[in-house]
Amino acid sequence: MEYRIAVIPGDGIGPEIIGEAKKVLDRVGEVYGHTFHYEEVLMGGISIDTYGVPLTDEALETARKSDSVLLGAVGGNVGNSRWYDVAPNLRPEAGLLAIRKGLNLFANIRPAFLYNGLEDACPLKKEIIGPGFDMVIVRELTGGLYFGERHTETVNGVRQATDTLVYNENEIRRVAVKAFDIAMKRKKKVTSVDKANVLDSSRLWRQVVAETAKDYPEVTLENMLVDNCAMQLVMNPGQFDVILTENMFGDILSDEASMITGSIGMLSSASLNEGKFGLYEPSHGSAPDIAGKGIANPIATILSAAMMLRFSFDLDKEADAVEQAVREVLACGFRTVDIMAEGMTRVGTEVMGARICERII
Ligand code: IPM
Ligand code: MG
Repeated sequence: MEYRIAVIPGDGIGPEIIGEAKKVLDRVGEVYGHTFHYEEVLMGGISIDTYGVPLTDEALETARKSDSVLLGAVGGNVGNSRWYDVAPNLRPEAGLLAIRKGLNLFANIRPAFLYNGLEDACPLKKEIIGPGFDMVIVRELTGGLYFGERHTETVNGVRQATDTLVYNENEIRRVAVKAFDIAMKRKKKVTSVDKANVLDSSRLWRQVVAETAKDYPEVTLENMLVDNCAMQLVMNPGQFDVILTENMFGDILSDEASMITGSIGMLSSASLNEGKFGLYEPSHGSAPDIAGKGIANPIATILSAAMMLRFSFDLDKEADAVEQAVREVLACGFRTVDIMAEGMTRVGTEVMGARICERII
């Protein structure tokens, strides 16, 4: 088969890690008889430098017309970069929010699990890790505080800023359906996270999730308050299967969940629309401090490409092969600096990519 992929290298380490993910995809193509066509799209700081805006209409159209989108990372150092001395809607991150909204990518899927052999990188005690953990965070991505009306004003000489958190039942239902569908293929448990003891939007969230759960009698639904969830993640991470939550809570909890896996450099993500279309990106940022040094961990991006094979192209066998290759490379002791441990072999971005490619056979 032939697939057209819009590729957004972005900023910082983005181009380096995307380079390795493309090599892995090409290797998959070679072994399994597929062709991947890449069309490069500018987004983030590099787009600001070239066009003056973080995402052009043309770039959005190119992404829309493709079969799926592979993204590296966008953004730079906040505070010391020309990209941040401009209005918020012209900063690199605005490009990311615009593409999520523009392509209706309302369901953000972020798996967090502990790889065999990376237990030492996990900051939790052995007794808390237990036999390990394997969860998926399903984060609503196109609503809530991120996209509500906001403004800053001066009232009676006092500066005041407002952000609004709005959800309608349809927005809640469609992402809940994704979470339950994913749970059906896993351990059949959904933990819906909200702040229903305070927020109206959370009370509606809880109601709509409960209604959706009726269509999934095999799935156990549990509700958890977000502050408790933050605590449970570091106290008993093994209890979670699928965590379903709104945009802002999901942003925060997914960073916490990724940290307990040892390195944010390992975690992939998918942002999906109603159908098969998706944008795939590592859960980490652009890491400007290590950009260009050839030391970034490409695994999160490579695993994101594997998610693309699985979710957008239905190439399960190929996705399995990539994930298996990553496990083997780790089992052989190869480590980038972020996951390095005593007795392991330290490698850079390109060597890590090459080691993974050669195990796809
Ligand atoms: C993420 C990031 C983004 C978000 C930023 C860069 C706008 O933190 O994808 O989690 O908050 O969604
Ligand atoms: Mg985040």
